Amino acid sequence: MTTTTSAPPRGAQRYQYLTQTNSGTPAGELLRRYWQPVAPVDTLAPDGSPKTVRIMGEDLVLFRDDQGAVGLIDRKCAHRCADLALGRIEDGGIRCPYHGWLFGVDGRCLDQPAEASPDAKHRIRTKSYPVHEAAGAFWAYMGPGEPPLFPNYPALLGGKAHCYTTRWLGNCNWLQASEGNIDPVHTSYLHQIELADANMNARWGVFANQARPELSIEETRFGIRLYTKRVIQGENRNSLRITNFVMPNACAVGGFEGYLGEGGLTMLWDVPIDDTHHWRWEFIFHRSGQLDMDALKKQYESEKVDGDRMWRTESDLYAQDRSSMENKAYVGLGECFSVHDIVITQSQGAIHQQTDEHLSSSDIAIVRARRMLDEAAQAVAANQDPRGVIRDPAKNHFHDMVVITAEVDKEESEIAFCERQARRTDLYERS
Ligand code: FES
Ligand SMILES: [Fe+2]
Repeated sequence: MTTTTSAPPRGAQRYQYLTQTNSGTPAGELLRRYWQPVAPVDTLAPDGSPKTVRIMGEDLVLFRDDQGAVGLIDRKCAHRCADLALGRIEDGGIRCPYHGWLFGVDGRCLDQPAEASPDAKHRIRTKSYPVHEAAGAFWAYMGPGEPPLFPNYPALLGGKAHCYTTRWLGNCNWLQASEGNIDPVHTSYLHQIELADANMNARWGVFANQARPELSIEETRFGIRLYTKRVIQGENRNSLRITNFVMPNACAVGGFEGYLGEGGLTMLWDVPIDDTHHWRWEFIFHRSGQLDMDALKKQYESEKVDGDRMWRTESDLYAQDRSSMENKAYVGLGECFSVHDIVITQSQGAIHQQTDEHLSSSDIAIVRARRMLDEAAQAVAANQDPRGVIRDPAKNHFHDMVVITAEVDKEESEIAFCERQARRTDLYERS
């Protein structure tokens, strides 16, 4: 496959192009250099009935052939563009119901029953992408050339007992959703709630009460590390929260698993469906295997309808409950943080316009991430691997993806503390 990427633009609207991810756009080609989650594993029934997948403006069909192999190929049949989502699973591939052309998981045309020449099929190869299964999701590599290694992020290695996976539809551009994940200040406002669980409430209190934390960032080999320090009143310690931006559209943060103490993290991916929609994926991991799956399911399912959509809609301001805003929920949208995030990022508009914003000092990670994405898009345009793509198995571990919320002596630097954590090999060790 050849890449038609043009160089990223310069000038006043310098980073707005990052919102465009169709094939051939600079940001689209960047995102295609990384494995992306494309569908929950359980959407594909054992009989392999095809499922439609739309990612970065490309319409694809996901299917399991009669040997169990999973394919992700162009939804349009290469013959005369009939919809392969209507296809039949048989004879080692998916067969178009219009004139019977058969395609394998690798996109090869295996049969053209009405064609006189048995060799004609060898000239046809439809678009296909490699698929990898991990952490309850199918992942695809949609870029050119040899796929990089699938990254061994701790959250994706857990297996069913250690990881809860879900996704939500977001009716807005991927970038504003992703930027919400590296904006630690919003935690003190948007997510301020009175939690039913006393332990969680105590942990959360410190974020709610300290609206002006001290923020600092540093670059890592896979993205950006964020340090958020909040003073604990009357004590000689600070609360320190370490989170990560993970190139190009993911993050590793402390989330629901926080009540189980260290050794957990939540990874989020904001994957473009097209420029005005995205999937927000959540992979919630804890090494203990003690995640309260029932509580998670209950909370998430009470906010969803039709599988992966919020029942709350913009037409009635997301059923905001003003009576709960007095002392229970800052934004009046219940307890589910995912809902808060999706509603607020949708409220920025279908495609957030960077020229309309006034960035402030608390947006340092967002500013750095835009620059990092821009540099990576330039690397791709110059045919280089962008930051965070792994090809060397010796580098495919992520002990340095430190996610921790801790109380740290005021005298200890956050960088020294983090380095100590990054040297540990047991932080995410499953028990
Ligand atoms: S359109 Fe698919 S076989 Fe003809
Ligand atoms: Fe949030």
